Amino acid sequence: MAKLWGGRFQKSTDKKVDDFNSSIRFDKRMYKQDIKGSIAHAAMLGKQNIIPREDSDKIIAELRNILSDIEDGKIEFEVDAEDIHMNIEKILIERIGDAGKRLHTGRSRNDQVALDMRMYLMDETADIEEMLIDAMNTLVDLAAEHTETIMPGYTHLQKAQPVTFAHHLMAYFEMFKRDLSRLRDCRARTNVMPLGSGALAGTTYPLDRKFVAEQLGFDAVTANSLDGVSDRDFVIELASCLSIVMMHLSRFSEELILWSSNEFSFVEPDDAYSTGSSIMPQKKNPDVAELIRGKTGRVYGHLMGLLTTMKGIPLAYNKDMQEDKEPIFDAIDTVKLCLPVFCDMIATMTVKKENMLKGSKGGFTNATDVADYLVKKGLPFREAHAVVGRMVFYAIERDKSLDELSMSEFREFSDIIESDIYDAISMETCVNDRKVIGGPAKETVEKAIRKAREFLDRQE
Ligand code: ARG
Repeated sequence: MAKLWGGRFQKSTDKKVDDFNSSIRFDKRMYKQDIKGSIAHAAMLGKQNIIPREDSDKIIAELRNILSDIEDGKIEFEVDAEDIHMNIEKILIERIGDAGKRLHTGRSRNDQVALDMRMYLMDETADIEEMLIDAMNTLVDLAAEHTETIMPGYTHLQKAQPVTFAHHLMAYFEMFKRDLSRLRDCRARTNVMPLGSGALAGTTYPLDRKFVAEQLGFDAVTANSLDGVSDRDFVIELASCLSIVMMHLSRFSEELILWSSNEFSFVEPDDAYSTGSSIMPQKKNPDVAELIRGKTGRVYGHLMGLLTTMKGIPLAYNKDMQEDKEPIFDAIDTVKLCLPVFCDMIATMTVKKENMLKGSKGGFTNATDVADYLVKKGLPFREAHAVVGRMVFYAIERDKSLDELSMSEFREFSDIIESDIYDAISMETCVNDRKVIGGPAKETVEKAIRKAREFLDRQE
């Protein structure tokens, strides 16, 4: 088949090279953006009298037909037409002849593909932002049910101090909130219109770039034609934002995997969100959480792949850059797959409050509070720390927790201890006295939840 660029060639492309070179297999997903971009370009060409008005009208009308034909599944793309840009242009020319041949005036596939990618990524980023907001809503709803669900907080995966499950969930809310703002920032930087950069050096036609930007809803036009066609940092930035989203999902997934083990037994995934074993009848595995954790690696891989692809490319366009698509598309698909399943998984799991509370009691999680008690009675913190250290050693030897020590045992360590110690070091006090901004106290977390809901309401 004749190539749109075939003029200077004597031989046709080897079949293997056609297959090798072609990106239609994966860039066809940008058909909508490609057509939208071409419609704006054609409208501008007509408005500027660069091509006859009637030709631009014809082009626009036929591009709309092509769009609906693609959506109705009536169009088969061809590998030897290489990519989505030339496939659509070729169909246009087949259908309307000479007028169609005028569409590519003042445009290169280099600025065209940069445009399509920016539009496609902005659309997908907006979708992912919505999904993140859904996840944040899920976290807040769950947190609201668990402001009194005491659980151990950990450092080094060793029990540290008691917190509540709500506080733990709200920590992830904060992470997702930053993820959302990162995605929005990334989208704002992507929101720049590259058409008019041409192949690399702009064009001699009097293009109205700002008109095209307005038609397509862009905030600005790119400022340098070389940069306009060779920059892919917006792709890498999105891959980085998505990697961070996955990192957060993966950390939470890891916790859920640990917590659903018999050793922790803090949560149990719903039957609909876990699977069994083909050999061990007793098994109920947290596969969904494991897959989210596993898929994180693949998104990180795409980020590293993209960085590596771009690192040695001289300006301006090089075909290497066609390799930007599969990784970022897969990163997007993966995040879009994980977020909703993650929401449903946490919304449906059983939270074993009793076990969480039990877990918070072992491991001397109130040791800091005993020290703080002594401090409030006048002892300097360092001394209090040492006293409680000895107390803990004593309690370990007798297989007791600190609140199980008798008054006379307490007195052995310090005579400023009185019977109010028991209340001061109960799990409830340990949590609910931590009213500092950002702390786990019920009233503090309730306030955080209220603020979170206000934030989410503003996102509608
Ligand atoms: N399919 C190409 C890509 O994804 C489009 C740009 C091709 N430009 C070129 N000069 N060969 O990058």
